[in-house]
Amino acid sequence: MLSESLIEKINQYNQNHLLKFYDELDVNQKIDYEKQLEQLDFDYIEIYKNKDKIGQNEEDVYLPLEAMTIDEIEEQRNQFEEAGIKALKECKVGAVLLAGGQGTRLGFDKPKGMFNIGVNKELYIFERIITNMLDVVNITGCYIPLFIMTSEINDEQTRAFLEEKNYFGYDKEFVFFFVQSMAPGMSYDGKFYMEAKGRLSLSPNGNGGWFSSIIKADLISKMEKMGVEWLNVFSVDNVLQRIADPAYVGATILSGYPSSAKVVKKVRPDERVGVMCRKNGRPSIVEYYELTDEMMQAKDSKGEPAYNYGVILNYMFRIKELLQISDNSMTTHIVEKKIPYINEKGEFVSPKEPNGYKFETLILDMINMLDDCLVYEVERKREFAPVKNKEGVDSIETARELLQYNGVEI
Ligand code: UTP
Repeated sequence: MLSESLIEKINQYNQNHLLKFYDELDVNQKIDYEKQLEQLDFDYIEIYKNKDKIGQNEEDVYLPLEAMTIDEIEEQRNQFEEAGIKALKECKVGAVLLAGGQGTRLGFDKPKGMFNIGVNKELYIFERIITNMLDVVNITGCYIPLFIMTSEINDEQTRAFLEEKNYFGYDKEFVFFFVQSMAPGMSYDGKFYMEAKGRLSLSPNGNGGWFSSIIKADLISKMEKMGVEWLNVFSVDNVLQRIADPAYVGATILSGYPSSAKVVKKVRPDERVGVMCRKNGRPSIVEYYELTDEMMQAKDSKGEPAYNYGVILNYMFRIKELLQISDNSMTTHIVEKKIPYINEKGEFVSPKEPNGYKFETLILDMINMLDDCLVYEVERKREFAPVKNKEGVDSIETARELLQYNGVEI
């Protein structure tokens, strides 16, 4: 039975359409739907109302943030690697794979990691990631605990696939799964979408919730027991992603900073990647659509573009500092997306064009919450081959070319 307070809330927020088909549901459907509605966060309506103000503040002051360049890293490579290998052998570093996204641009109906990027042989994205991790395991002789974030949508398939493939040779004792939270979809006029007569339209709430989901899944105590102090967080879709590579780990730890970010030189001033900078004195990542013309043209003392380093979704964070970040202080972004829904007649519609908003928090906002960040340059052609689209930029084709360039058999 729907509680009085829930009905009141639904009325108060003008969301009565959510109950339109309630009487048609059977007992079990009613129970499930009530549970969903009880958990629905009506605060999203406030965020929707204030959507034009998100992330914008006229008084924000942006400045460039220098990177440790490839040449500088080479000069200190031995020292970095030594420190990194020591930390990895002491199990001080865990890896966090963000695999909860829906990969809508790729249009693959399974978890992105299950995508076969091979041509003459099977080569799954998950396999690429694990092979790269095994390179490090072979150097140190120690497994890196791997925490995999899935969503309610792809959790079962991801677990079953990795199990079936025997974790591509990784020791499964060192693999832990956790599930991220979901957020509702909303129409342009502020109504929560329903996906079926007894179900809200929900989707993963962005990659910014990874750490709060780790806490919720009670994994912190496990990490503490293993001695993990740092987390290397990375995206599922970069098939050249180097994870917990000793030089990067060592450079981060020796920097004394609580975080670091791998970056690559941008190929064009207007390339669609987030760019490292300082915002109001703190390290920050400015999204490509927030870069002004002036910032795009700015030059540093060597005459190079001043905002020239794009992030590749590979960060390290010290857990001690992450524990001090409150989940409530993260910005919720509103993104226009295609959201499947049922219309007033209860018919299912799968829109071809964006028809509303999704709510997401983003990992890149975490950088601004920490006091400092080591910006660590890596060679683009060696470490950055994202599979975002079916064709064109950052696509299956470009990723295959880059794999071949790096001598990977595909
Ligand atoms: P993207 O921003 O590329 O999003 O994710 P996506 O959902 O995978 O793809 P599109 O935009 O729908 O095409 C970057 C990384 O963050 C993870 C993704 O799995 C990927 O590793 N991610 C994204 C999550 O883990 N959860 C989310 O809710 C969103």
